[in-house]
Amino acid sequence: MTDIWTRLTDHRKSQGALRIEALFAADPARAAGFSTRAEGLVLDWSKTSIDDTARALLLELAQPVAERREAMFAGQRINETEDRAVLHTALRNLDASVMVEGQDVMPEVRATHARMGAFAQSVRDGSFAGQGGKITDVINIGIGGSDLGPAMATRALSPWHDGPRLHFVSNVDGADIADTIAGLDPATTLVIVASKTFTTIETMTNAQTALDWMAKTVAQPAAQFAALSSATDRTAEWGIDAARVFGFEDWVGGRYSMWGPIGLSLMIAIGPGQFDRFLAGGAAMDRHFRQAPLAENLPVILALVGIWHHQICGYGTRAVLPYDNRLARLPAYLQQLEMESNGKRVAMDGSDLTLPSGPVVWGEPGTNGQHAFYQLIHQGTAIVPCEFIVAARGHEPELAHHHLLLTANCLAQSEALMRGRSLDVALDLMRAKGLTGAELERQARHRVFPGNRPSTTLLIAELDPFTLGQIVALYEHRVFAEGVILGINSFDQWGVELGKELALKVAPLLEGKPAPGHDPSTEQLAALIRAARG
Ligand code: F6P
Repeated sequence: MTDIWTRLTDHRKSQGALRIEALFAADPARAAGFSTRAEGLVLDWSKTSIDDTARALLLELAQPVAERREAMFAGQRINETEDRAVLHTALRNLDASVMVEGQDVMPEVRATHARMGAFAQSVRDGSFAGQGGKITDVINIGIGGSDLGPAMATRALSPWHDGPRLHFVSNVDGADIADTIAGLDPATTLVIVASKTFTTIETMTNAQTALDWMAKTVAQPAAQFAALSSATDRTAEWGIDAARVFGFEDWVGGRYSMWGPIGLSLMIAIGPGQFDRFLAGGAAMDRHFRQAPLAENLPVILALVGIWHHQICGYGTRAVLPYDNRLARLPAYLQQLEMESNGKRVAMDGSDLTLPSGPVVWGEPGTNGQHAFYQLIHQGTAIVPCEFIVAARGHEPELAHHHLLLTANCLAQSEALMRGRSLDVALDLMRAKGLTGAELERQARHRVFPGNRPSTTLLIAELDPFTLGQIVALYEHRVFAEGVILGINSFDQWGVELGKELALKVAPLLEGKPAPGHDPSTEQLAALIRAARG
């Protein structure tokens, strides 16, 4: 394995100033040869500097993925630092039987899914009502994996949204819940508290505020609460009827949980039938990931492109750029999925990682990003590999001209990033404007685009519940494959613990109570805040 990393690094060095365009010139079939198709999705990764040699070496690197993948699907405890199986895939494969340590876990999964469906339907048709009538608004209170998935998907699938209005509250900043409840009628609002542990301070603080708000006008506020949690003792303490508590096993990680109970808000929004289409899309990607050879395996290829750019080429970040406004929250969702999973400095065996861990992931929908940060992507000194996502068809046939422009922009950006604009062309442009001499050169240099900047494009037919399921599962498996190749445990998140612990210790400092052990800067900031509050 080490040897392959060295050979890859040496090969990258040997490419020198190679231009991606030269790879197309040398291989007329490159566009098709460096595209991977699966289940109606196409990933074109030809606009990268990966050549035949790099591809072969990268595929060698991917060999351990096959064995680890089977261990995951077989329910082995591959999350070794938490001693847990990793089986979120079971939540979307409802017809199968999935054995965990000799026991089929699926009857329980199916029963919870059926209860969710019945409850979602009853909210939608009014047979479950608030104390003031049919539910008009649903507030999902959760954070991280208990928020980002359903929030992202509800926005992505807005054309299928025919249930009550949905709101997502995550931040402990009171502004979040205050802005959300302003204008809502407590008597027709359902509050869903989404927290696997039912201890997360942000979520529990927001839930208490929502309960107090409801209690002012509603006789039995807890009767309009549902809980998505495994901690049934704590949900009972909150007075939430067990019929409205939907639990899941410890083999479902927070950021992988939207396929089960954490997806209840999405299910209420789009209906159980469309939610099942979303699950079917995820299951289709699971089958592909499990069965396709590594060289034709979409998640594996996406992982290898990521490894090439970050660990081999040394590009520090990657941008996810959906040319689909409804995927506006996808970059935020992927930030948690990728950075919480693979942002680790220690390998599975406890040794220091000798390679860079996962990259910084960021992004915004196109074309908005073009008028904001694309300047840096085109002409800055840092190279940012771009991952474009675009649908062949828009959802609004009457606005097809919008979609044409949107798609044209997406394709134009990836072409411009690769081709750039040479100094000669820029000089011609400036000459045409009448410039001469030193000023001609100076102005032209500002208009040069170095090009040779890599990108991939994921093409889908149309954004719908099924394709969204495919996309989310694709990225989940990509993150897993990258983690396996890097030797990381992608399924724990110890890095979020320290901040949580310290926040509890800083709170007394802000209240002016004795709180020893803080650094001088923190003490100073707390004193300034106390003084400003008066
Ligand atoms: O951010 C850390 C984390 O544990 C995530 O993995 C999880 O999605 C989130 O907190 C919320 O946790 P819970 O669902 O237990 O409230």
